[in-house]
Amino acid sequence: MLAAHAEVSAARPRRKSARTRILGTAVALLAVTSAGLTTGSSAEAAAPDGRGAAGQGDPYFPLSGNGGYTTGHYDLGLAYDPATQRLDGTETITARATQQLTRFDLDLSGLTVRSVRVNGRTARWTREGQELVITPGKPLRKGQSFRVDVSYGGIPQDVTDPDGSPDGWIQTDDGAFVAGEPQGAMSWFAADNHPLDKASYSFTITVPAGYTAVANGVLTSQRTKGGKTTFRWCQAQPMAAYLATATIGKFDVQRYTTASGIPVYNAVDPREAADAAPALARIPAILDWESGIFGSYPFSAAGAIVDHAPDVGYALETQTRPLYDSAPDVDTVVHEIAHQWFGDSVSLTSWQDIWLNEGFATYAEWLWEEQHGGRSAQATFDAYYARPAASSLWAFPTADPGEGANIFDSPVYTRGAMTLQKLRTAVGDTDFLTILKTWARGHRYGNGTTAQFTALSEKVSGKNLDGLFHTWLYTAGKPAQP
Ligand code: ARG
Ligand code: ZN
Repeated sequence: MLAAHAEVSAARPRRKSARTRILGTAVALLAVTSAGLTTGSSAEAAAPDGRGAAGQGDPYFPLSGNGGYTTGHYDLGLAYDPATQRLDGTETITARATQQLTRFDLDLSGLTVRSVRVNGRTARWTREGQELVITPGKPLRKGQSFRVDVSYGGIPQDVTDPDGSPDGWIQTDDGAFVAGEPQGAMSWFAADNHPLDKASYSFTITVPAGYTAVANGVLTSQRTKGGKTTFRWCQAQPMAAYLATATIGKFDVQRYTTASGIPVYNAVDPREAADAAPALARIPAILDWESGIFGSYPFSAAGAIVDHAPDVGYALETQTRPLYDSAPDVDTVVHEIAHQWFGDSVSLTSWQDIWLNEGFATYAEWLWEEQHGGRSAQATFDAYYARPAASSLWAFPTADPGEGANIFDSPVYTRGAMTLQKLRTAVGDTDFLTILKTWARGHRYGNGTTAQFTALSEKVSGKNLDGLFHTWLYTAGKPAQP
């Protein structure tokens, strides 16, 4: 069992050796020069000339997201041909201006834009790196609702993350594995690509007959005509752009409704089906068990996409329907489903706080093991604490990864889960479970910060936890006391 928690596999992604740290720095510089950005929310970043900021001001991904508006809904029309790898998109975004806007940006990387309309009228646009800069014919008033139509196409290119992994629209031998954390959404649709701006989504995806296109939420229709199949999916609850998927392949599909009434849709590459079956069979039990611990399941659909994507190296908690690059084990399914509460329903405000996603999902694995005949979470903690001070587990403080290249490393996952175990022993099981549930309910469909979580922990327990959080979240090196 220890092997399942080994340092590399604890951080779900399998790492690539070549790291491209320089990229993050270059992007950071670009953001400062092109947008004159300061950190802070987009609303404050309003430039006097009515330009929406080019980014949300996230220190790790300065150009992710944009300023001056918030999105309400994305309606994505996509057509993909696996043989030519060509994607064509027609997209409609409804949004609201949070400042007067003479121009505003969407994030889009690669692809060719054919036309942009704002409120039905042709708008001027330019491409500047990952920014699609749009100038509406008439400035938008602060508070005004507006609609943007973007028509685009081309062969999507995945984005290389600061940690060297591919992200976004990743071609496979029978379609595409579509996963966007943290930046890749912009490789297949124009987005306000930061978890601060969540929206509902609908997808209409057309593929050659014989292929299946799987997105988030509920399948509302599927029709085959003239050798093509169109799938319509609806994600009614708010979703961060990085959690959207439109994964395409030759899949076996399994559909059922759990005893507790959640519709499940699983799409499985036949090459992975036999290995995936045992873990997939546990989905209803995992949903029930996690709902018991974290509070009611936040979404109206569930399931899994198990692809055969040997070059990807990670799974992703795509909203409602996690995406696996190969047959997952039960721990991985427990992890990705736990993200539906921690990461998907309660989203990050800043990527620096990524432990709020990964530490919590990892802790869910430890708790699952404890309650299903395995070792206790404390025993798991102890096994990790035994690691020498030079171990990469202690390379940086959990809540301060330092840069985007580190956000999927073991101090975020494992030390993040260790921090929760420390919290549990400090406040006791009852208060600990109340904290988890209150966190999930209080920030449901919204966003949270580490400071809000630590404040909630103190409020629920009535204890001063400064020392614990200071040591476990913010202090470099191996803590002196377990
Ligand atoms: N959030 C994913 C998980 O469940 C990991 C995503 C890794 N992505 C990446 N680009 N390296 O752990
Ligand atoms: Zn995770």
